[in-house]
Amino acid sequence: MMDVNSEPSPQAAAERPARSLQFRHRTHNRYWWYNISETAYVPPVLAALSDAEWQLLEAWFEDTERRFPSPGELSVPAISMLWALIGGNGISRIVQAGHYAGYSTLLLGFLLRAMGKRHALFSIDIDSAVTDYTQQWTERAGLTDIVRLSVTDSAAADAVIAARSYLGGMPQLVLIDSSHNYDHTLKELDLWYQAVVPGGMIVMHDASIFAQSFDAAGHGGVRRAALEWAKNRGVQIWTLNGFVDGSQPVEDLTYRDGCGLGFLQKPMVSAG
Ligand SMILES: C[S@@+](CC[C@H](N)C(=O)[O-])C[C@H]1O[C@@H](n2cnc3c(N)ncnc32)[C@H](O)[C@@H]1O
Repeated sequence: MMDVNSEPSPQAAAERPARSLQFRHRTHNRYWWYNISETAYVPPVLAALSDAEWQLLEAWFEDTERRFPSPGELSVPAISMLWALIGGNGISRIVQAGHYAGYSTLLLGFLLRAMGKRHALFSIDIDSAVTDYTQQWTERAGLTDIVRLSVTDSAAADAVIAARSYLGGMPQLVLIDSSHNYDHTLKELDLWYQAVVPGGMIVMHDASIFAQSFDAAGHGGVRRAALEWAKNRGVQIWTLNGFVDGSQPVEDLTYRDGCGLGFLQKPMVSAG
């Protein structure tokens, strides 16, 4: 008879799908990426986790699925872009506008820990209940030295002061994934562009035509705000999948996230 306290046999462990491969064929819409025909592998952003980190994230997936109708996490393509940008450049001072249930906070926290960083992610959300929830997971993950959560409006001027103080300098990277509202995004861009270090970047999720429908006021969302703001300031903007309007099947997209990703970089003054 099998001893329930014993470790699973090597054979049973080998038969269990590795990490996120178990998400393939799940029907909840949060697992859409894992069902693409060409993604039958564990994405590098999840493969890089330690076993303990993966187990915590797996528990987070289960818990958020029970508690949130839509856990609202960044897609695998979007978190992978950020992961490469941060990990490939030793980025140490990051601000996030919008942490919700904590997915991007946990994954960026795990990455920053692997990079040996402390006080590296200052994350803002206007909702105190989701912040309490994310705080619990951040503590469980042992990331309290690396991540600070703040309840405030991500367009509030004092958020910049708090972020600089926690990070020990001007942010190098600001991730905007908050209201999706045109007017609010304009305010965030005004605020955080002047706050980032020269050469630093603002990355905006939901910068596609498709994602304009996320603006509850119907004013054109992140895409309209980002394009107008960049044009008025004479700042270059690059949007990945900005053209996606929802008619393109994910199987045909190269960058798979139809919500798009916008990039603004603050130029450095020439040294010469
Ligand atoms: C799409 S979710 C963020 C998901 C998160 N980045 C992740 O990958 O798990 C958007 C979050 O923005 C927050 N938000 C909305 N309006 C905001 C505002 N004005 N200031 C700060 N946060 C806001 C919401 O409360 C929500 O938690």
